[in-house]
Amino acid sequence: MNAPLRKVVFPVAGLGTRFLPASKVVAKEMLPVLDKPLIQYAVDEAVDAGADTLVFITSRYKHSIADYFDTAYELEQKLERSGKKELLAAVRNVVPKHVRCVYVTQSEALGLGHAVLCAKPVIGDEPFGVILPDDLIWNRGAGALRQMAQFAPSRDAGVIAVEEVPHDETHKYGIVDAEKADGRAARVRHVVEKPKPEVAPSNLAIVGRYVLPGKIFELLEKTTPGAGGEIQLTDAIAALLRDGDVHAYRFDGTRFDCGGKAGLVRATLHFAMQDPALADIARAAVAEAVQPN
Ligand code: G1P
Repeated sequence: MNAPLRKVVFPVAGLGTRFLPASKVVAKEMLPVLDKPLIQYAVDEAVDAGADTLVFITSRYKHSIADYFDTAYELEQKLERSGKKELLAAVRNVVPKHVRCVYVTQSEALGLGHAVLCAKPVIGDEPFGVILPDDLIWNRGAGALRQMAQFAPSRDAGVIAVEEVPHDETHKYGIVDAEKADGRAARVRHVVEKPKPEVAPSNLAIVGRYVLPGKIFELLEKTTPGAGGEIQLTDAIAALLRDGDVHAYRFDGTRFDCGGKAGLVRATLHFAMQDPALADIARAAVAEAVQPN
């Protein structure tokens, strides 16, 4: 496609039960990895891919996400008066000036496919990106979504990020049956949502990055509840395959599944090790924690 992705959708209405009791009041997307909430990493990746319109599919329990991207006048004034320039820039730059945020309420939790369908009035008919903020992807170079947008062969093609997972974990993911890979990409033959290991066509799992054509909306409208009784994005992608092109893309980068405790711990340690002010502290803390009592 080689055109920047202008619009990116963030489905953020989910309850985050794996982080209860914290997620009773803290949206899981607001949980921090060091000093940035998960949603900030996702937004930075979208902006890196060229997005100027960020579409958050949210719910009544997630007002903190809109608050976070809103201007905090009093705080900014205070920081300005006390000359804290770096902090002021950090607060102001959560989204660059040319980027606008749009919030759409998903009033019923009917599944990821339904959440993406809620973005239809904002997206229209153009290709768009989807980022699931639980999947935090770190890369030294271009972000995963930018890599996928640059690869996308046409406006009508779908591109889904994939990664191999242990065979006994296929039931946690959308699983792809793909042709032989040509470099990072492979043409998808079939996708299935959360198959048991015994029936999974492979161990190539969809991770939370998608580049989708506008056509996906009419397919989502026809999608009936699937795995877990939910309207699944994976099922609409399976329908897209019937008369279109979908590519599985092995991105360059490291994924942390921050929808659960293990991934959040791994991500925190990883980012601490990347920070010269924290690397030694993190190393010493781990060494101390693994000492037998
Ligand atoms: C969703 C998708 C699934 C994908 C996963 C990646 O599942 O439905 O296909 O593999 O995200 O994180 P969820 O984790 O929301 O159950």
